[in-house]
Amino acid sequence: MFGPDQPVELQLIEIPQRMKALEAVVMELYDCAFPLMRSVSMTDDLDVGFQAANWVVLCGCTPRKDKMLRKDLLGVNGKVFAPQGKAIMDHAASDVRTLVVGNPCNTNCLIAMSNAKDVPADRWFAMTRLDENRAKAQLALKAGVHSTDVTNLAVWGNHSITAFPDFLNAKIAGKPVIDVITDRAWLEGDFLKTVRHRGAAMIKVRGLSAAQSAAHAAVETIRSIVNPTLADDWHSVALPADGSYGIEKGIICSFPTRSDGSKVEIVQGLPINDFARAKIDATIKELVDERAIVKDQIPV
Ligand code: LMR
Repeated sequence: MFGPDQPVELQLIEIPQRMKALEAVVMELYDCAFPLMRSVSMTDDLDVGFQAANWVVLCGCTPRKDKMLRKDLLGVNGKVFAPQGKAIMDHAASDVRTLVVGNPCNTNCLIAMSNAKDVPADRWFAMTRLDENRAKAQLALKAGVHSTDVTNLAVWGNHSITAFPDFLNAKIAGKPVIDVITDRAWLEGDFLKTVRHRGAAMIKVRGLSAAQSAAHAAVETIRSIVNPTLADDWHSVALPADGSYGIEKGIICSFPTRSDGSKVEIVQGLPINDFARAKIDATIKELVDERAIVKDQIPV
């Protein structure tokens, strides 16, 4: 995740009732004999687990069940992220960066960030890379190409059924997607629907939410943040909205982003037509509504 020469010390946090399961994870981590894993510790104490952490991945949460929306978890999971944010502020390293994976990840990230006022806003990210990867896979299948041929795929907004995977600015082998896949009804219909409902489709088939693809997306998100982005490409990550594209500040919104290896910037100036604008406005509205639901957990 951090490159071929970067050793990693893992500090794993679990709730007390699940420490036995964590013990098994640690046994497997040892048994993988990972060349870059220098140490691994486990704790149920946030203050200990976040001590001196440079990168935090917040994936602990109650997963949703069949027929639930991610935002249905706000009540139960939201409460987890306020103390986590506070413990990060109090104990993590001064350069700490945090990726929120636990759902609903955008608003959970907002809660954690809002409870960690001393940690600058540009250190907080939520994961929409899974939606990007899902969109790339669907476009590649439709066009009969490999997923690596699909580039410039930005997901806008929330990691939810309103996410907008922006096929209008995406490319296949350097050509606009809409020139390669001319079936516009599919792009505006089944494609969007498949990507947006993929998490629920997985829960239906597997009985549990996506695991491997989500873990892979988390690794790829951090890799894209700590490495320079390839020329002319971009990746999706949710971060604090700064007013770009007329999107309201004060929400954690997914944008097309580029990194120079340390700083992540929102790609500016992409064309947004009426169709895209309506989709983006709808997903922003959902984020604003989610923020209103958790306002008690966001200190003024
Ligand atoms: C996913 O998209 O697979 C995850 O966010 C899990 C879920 O609840 O769908």
